[in-house]
Amino acid sequence: MITTQEISQIRQQVRAWHAKGETVAFVPTMGNLHQGHITLIKEAVKRADHVVASIFVNPMQFGQNEDLDAYPRTLAADQQALTDAGAELLFTPTPEIIYPKGMDQQSFVEVPNISEQLCGASRPGHFRGVATVVCKLFNIVQPDIALFGRKDFQQLLVIETMVADLSMPIEIIGVDTIREASGLAMSSRNGYLSQAQKDKAATLKQTMDTMSVAIQQGVSIANAIQTGNSQLCEAGFRPDYLEVRSTTDLSQASDENSSLVILAAAYMGDTRLIDNLCFTR
Ligand code: PAJ
Repeated sequence: MITTQEISQIRQQVRAWHAKGETVAFVPTMGNLHQGHITLIKEAVKRADHVVASIFVNPMQFGQNEDLDAYPRTLAADQQALTDAGAELLFTPTPEIIYPKGMDQQSFVEVPNISEQLCGASRPGHFRGVATVVCKLFNIVQPDIALFGRKDFQQLLVIETMVADLSMPIEIIGVDTIREASGLAMSSRNGYLSQAQKDKAATLKQTMDTMSVAIQQGVSIANAIQTGNSQLCEAGFRPDYLEVRSTTDLSQASDENSSLVILAAAYMGDTRLIDNLCFTR
């Protein structure tokens, strides 16, 4: 696998592949790769002739008091894992390469409505940072397809909406969440947890499972949320939000919606974890 910080080298390589009529899949990441990320790479290998990955801890999507500086950086291990999974090209730009004008650049990508609720309400500007960097990475790599995890359900919806609204010629593929045996969704931020906290954090998935079963059995959404919040608090979580929404646009779930998603964000100690569960009723 070739690792480069050079935009020109990425463009040259992808152009050469396209000139031969070969397809290119792209998997953007912030590094500290785990099996969730690697599953995206393996899925990409199945779906395209060549796989490009990126590792960039994007300052624009981190808030003032968030973990930008502490975010784990493990390049050597990531390179090995990407090579083993079949990626051929890795883009590892610095913030100066992506943002030569610093955070004062003039143009941003905004996907209102979807971006303002849930994680967007707790993390103002987060999805503007995500949409802007993903748009930039798409313009640099120019892939045919790009893969994103359903673990970040709202992020996937923001990207799908951006691509559709701005007519970007890229197919977006969502990949199911990869979990620990306990049910805990894999996340780079799980590394901040002690073993005892990890054990307790498995309650997040259990809570969503219980809620989906209850709603399917006729319990009201409001009651299911109330019980779910209590369950999370008992396990030592400090819930940020726990919501049931329509899967298509994250609008409030009503009796007409049959395709629903439970979305949760909760703090275990100082670590903010997110997860979601789709179900029908
Ligand atoms: P990061 O958190 O590194 O995640 C990169 C990709 O891996 C995202 O599409 C995410 O949804 C997916 N992913 C993470 N954990 C997963 C799991 N347990 N199962 C399946 N997929 C999982 O998300 C970002 O980076 C950034 O916001 C980014 C899109 C790169 C823009 O900066």
